[in-house]
Amino acid sequence: MHVCFIEPRFPTNQRLFVQALAEIGATVTAIGEGSKASLSDEHKHWLTHYEEVGNVTDQAQVLNAVKTISRAKTIDRLEATVEAHIMTAAHVREAAGIPGTSSRTAFLCRDKPAMKEVLRAGGVPCAASTAASSAAEVRAFAEQVGYPLIVKPRDGAGASGASRVDSDAELEAALKALHVDKGRSVAVEEFIEGHEGFFDTLTLRGQVVHEFATHYYPNVLEAMRTRWISPQFIQTNRIDSAPGYAEVKQMGQKVVTLLGIETSATHMEWFSGPKGLKFSEIGCRPPGVRAWDLYNVGNDMDLYREWAMLIAAGRPSSARRAVWPRASLPCARIAMAASRTTTGSTRFAAPSVRTSSTGTRRRRAHPRRAWRRATWRTRGSA
Ligand SMILES: Nc1ncnc2c1ncn2[C@@H]1O[C@H](COP(=O)(O)OP(=O)(O)O)[C@@H](O)[C@H]1O
Ligand SMILES: [Mg+2]
Repeated sequence: MHVCFIEPRFPTNQRLFVQALAEIGATVTAIGEGSKASLSDEHKHWLTHYEEVGNVTDQAQVLNAVKTISRAKTIDRLEATVEAHIMTAAHVREAAGIPGTSSRTAFLCRDKPAMKEVLRAGGVPCAASTAASSAAEVRAFAEQVGYPLIVKPRDGAGASGASRVDSDAELEAALKALHVDKGRSVAVEEFIEGHEGFFDTLTLRGQVVHEFATHYYPNVLEAMRTRWISPQFIQTNRIDSAPGYAEVKQMGQKVVTLLGIETSATHMEWFSGPKGLKFSEIGCRPPGVRAWDLYNVGNDMDLYREWAMLIAAGRPSSARRAVWPRASLPCARIAMAASRTTTGSTRFAAPSVRTSSTGTRRRRAHPRRAWRRATWRTRGSA
């Protein structure tokens, strides 16, 4: 099995995907923006071949590199795990006849209005939403749905450019900031009240194989816009026992099916509030900010290896479905950490996890407090 991986070095945890593929015995090649000489010794050990390109989001350049690599050995899978690379990888896959996430699926996991349209039609509860490229269209939607609304880029990330608007004046300001007056198409949505979380999976041929439910504290938009907050996210250890998660899991599988996700990592956000559970958005890729590291330590597993197994071997590492003894994990292992970086930028961080094997990360708050915060109370389900 020959897997070609896009951008093996940046961000730094990209190396873990490459390492996992190599460790399970796949032939691994890579395409990246750095020079071959600047690869680490480990990268050189794991990789059979490396092609440098000027820009890994440029389809023509990546396709050229794929063709070069294929001349030496047929590529069985072309994989990308960073949002910015997903569309390019899908287009190149299709152009080169390599199996994997299709362009249609990649697009539906990128374009928020299109994603919601397909899911709504399939019966998944979503915020009322539309795509609009003129102020008149947005105003008409506002008239119909009422405030508050969310206005955001169709293909944003990290909440950049997203804003809540509560009045005509705020709406006009948001439209200007997003250049709707210059014809840019944006996503406009009904504002969903409630708690926000995410549901991450690894899927194999369209079926969820591994799943994790995690909670944002506070919701992303608030965290990103409020300077003093040190945002955190907490993974539950009761995904299989607290009843509210059954609905999240069901929604997750339905979304995977409707969007045509086959063998991939996924990262889906949801809201739970007065209007019940609502889908928010999904990426056809692993979550950011190293959430997988939290899952690995919290569940005594290696998700990078699991991902590699699904991609390269077409099966999980264990025949049974991955229900590690999550419910019995000692909660005191989950602890809290501030996430404001030294430069003052805001990003979510997984709480530090302290175990005997990873005792180096020791910044934590009182375990009982962590336990209480890990409890999902929004719908009285946990
Ligand atoms: N319809 C909505 N209702 C309430 N909050 C929303 C809505 N859409 C987005 N948000 C808030 O804005 C954040 C960023 O929007 P999102 O659609 O997730 O885009 P991004 O791709 O930037 O993550 C979300 O995490 C959420 O906190
Ligand atoms: Mg998001």
